[in-house]
Amino acid sequence: MAQIGIIGAGSWGTALAVLLAGNGHAVRLWSAIESEIMLLKEKREHSSKLPGVKLPESIQATTDLQLAMADAELLVLAVPSVFVRETARSMKAYYQPRQIVVNVAKGIEEDSLMTMVDIIEEELGGGTVCVLSGPSHAEEVGKKLPTTIVVGAKTRQIAEHVQSLFMNGVFRVYTSPDILGIELGGSLKNVIALAAGMADGLGFGDNTKAALITRGIHEIGRLALAMGAKAETLNGLTGIGDLIVTCASVHSRNRKAGMLIGQGKTPDQAMDEVQMVVEGVYSAKAAVKLGEKYQVSLPIIERVNKILFEELPVKEAIFELMQREKKTEYENLEWET
Ligand SMILES: NC(=O)c1ccc[n+]([C@@H]2O[C@H](COP(=O)([O-])OP(=O)(O)OC[C@H]3O[C@@H](n4cnc5c(N)ncnc54)[C@H](O)[C@@H]3O)[C@@H](O)[C@H]2O)c1
Repeated sequence: MAQIGIIGAGSWGTALAVLLAGNGHAVRLWSAIESEIMLLKEKREHSSKLPGVKLPESIQATTDLQLAMADAELLVLAVPSVFVRETARSMKAYYQPRQIVVNVAKGIEEDSLMTMVDIIEEELGGGTVCVLSGPSHAEEVGKKLPTTIVVGAKTRQIAEHVQSLFMNGVFRVYTSPDILGIELGGSLKNVIALAAGMADGLGFGDNTKAALITRGIHEIGRLALAMGAKAETLNGLTGIGDLIVTCASVHSRNRKAGMLIGQGKTPDQAMDEVQMVVEGVYSAKAAVKLGEKYQVSLPIIERVNKILFEELPVKEAIFELMQREKKTEYENLEWET
């Protein structure tokens, strides 16, 4: 049994707390929001974000960050990506170098273009930071539906240790050394999910969705490989796997925001209606900057960015994508003659 601190009590933090408590670990679940902790203590359920999933008595909910981190061998950082830097900064005062930090947030910081693991390491001044990511909606993990996911770490030993803490009969964890590939796949898929939602909102069909997913993973792959990620990761659970689930699922807030935009709402109206952080909006800006930096063409991501920030009408963006210059599907394949 391990002592585990979960930092962030939204839908994913709560689902992971329940999973880890179910594996027999002692869990402290922290939130910066007092009313959220009151709710968890009183109802033993996150009724607004994860309704129907009861918190076992072994989970201690708290707003005391020092208590949440005390004696924990594992710390799971589960706040939305926009809050990761400030949260990691607050954690520094109580962080012990022997503690393993698992980042589960998906995003790229707009100004620094850094991924979450790098930000956490920077704020903690080092430490052992890994990432857990993959096609894993909290709502389904909360219902104990079979789910697969990947832990990325610098050493096999750390990855296998984290794997053993999380894994159970309905939650299968693979290991990987490609932290960067995992983080880029998890962040950039949210931008493509916005596009998939826009297509749904316009009433387009499965052909369009399949095109966005397939050409989307090409785009993500081009950028990720230029940045040093491994091709295998893009073909795996945290690449194509997470992209498929986010573009297709009713649980995806990025797809939902995109759908509202496709139906004619402005991006601001769509964000208000979703009422949760739509991380793809931030990652879209960062991805465009990364595309420029690494000289990689990102036609779908660039259009999403223009729809969000430059008032490009969605229909015009689709028209532009369909009318691009003729191309071969894979530039590197050789012709017989
Ligand atoms: N929800 C999922 O199914 C899921 C699955 C995998 C990964 N993730 C990732 O996990 C991260 C968290 O997602 P979520 O769905 O739990 O988000 P959420 O919107 O449900 O969680 C928001 C939570 O963040 C915390 N918070 C709010 N303001 C804060 C602040 N100023 N400082 C610190 N913490 C604050 C609060 O606990 C709040 O409940 C995201 O990066 C997301 O991409 C989510």
